[in-house]
Amino acid sequence: MHIIVTGANGQVGRELRDLSCIVKNVDFTFLSKEDLPIENFELVRTFFSIRKPDVVINCAAYTAVDTAEQAKDLAFLINGEAVGVLAAVCNELPCRFIHISTDYVFAGTATTPYRESDFTSPVNAYGASKLEGEEQAFRVNPNAIVVRTSWVYSSYGKNFVKTMIRLMNEKKEISVVDDQVGSPTYAADLADALYTIAISKNAPGGIYHYANKGIISWYQFALAIADQVKADCLVHPIPGSAYPTPAKRPAYSVLDTSRLTETFGIQIRPWQKSLADCMKKISTRD
Ligand SMILES: NC(=O)c1ccc[n+]([C@@H]2O[C@H](COP(=O)([O-])OP(=O)(O)OC[C@H]3O[C@@H](n4cnc5c(N)ncnc54)[C@H](OP(=O)(O)O)[C@@H]3O)[C@@H](O)[C@H]2O)c1
Repeated sequence: MHIIVTGANGQVGRELRDLSCIVKNVDFTFLSKEDLPIENFELVRTFFSIRKPDVVINCAAYTAVDTAEQAKDLAFLINGEAVGVLAAVCNELPCRFIHISTDYVFAGTATTPYRESDFTSPVNAYGASKLEGEEQAFRVNPNAIVVRTSWVYSSYGKNFVKTMIRLMNEKKEISVVDDQVGSPTYAADLADALYTIAISKNAPGGIYHYANKGIISWYQFALAIADQVKADCLVHPIPGSAYPTPAKRPAYSVLDTSRLTETFGIQIRPWQKSLADCMKKISTRD
């Protein structure tokens, strides 16, 4: 089996690289933004038709949520139109197209975990561009698999966990939003799940939700990180209104993951165990 990973230098792409070192009988090709900018449609077509993958996992995305408000065209090109082209090329080859989407396709007004079929209504440009990508993918490739996830962190790249560690080591006190709740997702766990999906034959196309188990606020997540860091820093809860950002965030973005577990038999870990593993990886890489 041959799996191509696009956007391979991001958090999830890097974790898939780490995973590829331990799995057997699968060839991986990792393509960074420089290797394959996914908005270069001709290059995508040429590359895939020469390399003939069995599966493409698209980890490439425009992920700057706040900047997307001002850069809508670019966000829609990468997260929308380019995803449609990737999905179409995979459909023509044919090969399985696996794409990652987000909890930000939802408005965040629910009070129980979002199911795949729930009504979508993004509150910011990034979420709207990711929803556009989902819709374009299924329009041309009904066999595509879209995995929506939330609050992704890892030892790689920029993310909430690494920002908190830095701030907790620099400051005596920090304030963190306590009225937005969701489920943190360790990119290494997500990479495992994507790999299981990639190698499962005959899996039905469609949308699946993946996030680590548990429901917390950013403040509660920061407290757990502080506990691991053991830094001399006080963490205070604040409302989102005290931390204004260019892009609105959904207040509730918990995903119901039961469809993914039932379909692929993937058991999802609680966020606490995954955070501990990530902290270990960060400390061994420092
Ligand atoms: N991070 C989160 O909290 C979160 C939450 C929910 C869903 N997701 C989704 O999960 C997926 C993976 O996210 P992540 O956290 O791994 O993101 P990430 O770390 O930002 O990685 C995205 C990668 O895509 C690359 N990229 C950007 N534009 C590209 C282009 N035109 N062509 C090819 N590659 C391009 C980026 O390169 P540069 O860095 O050089 O630009 C980066 O290496 C994305 O689909 C994202 O929307 C993320």
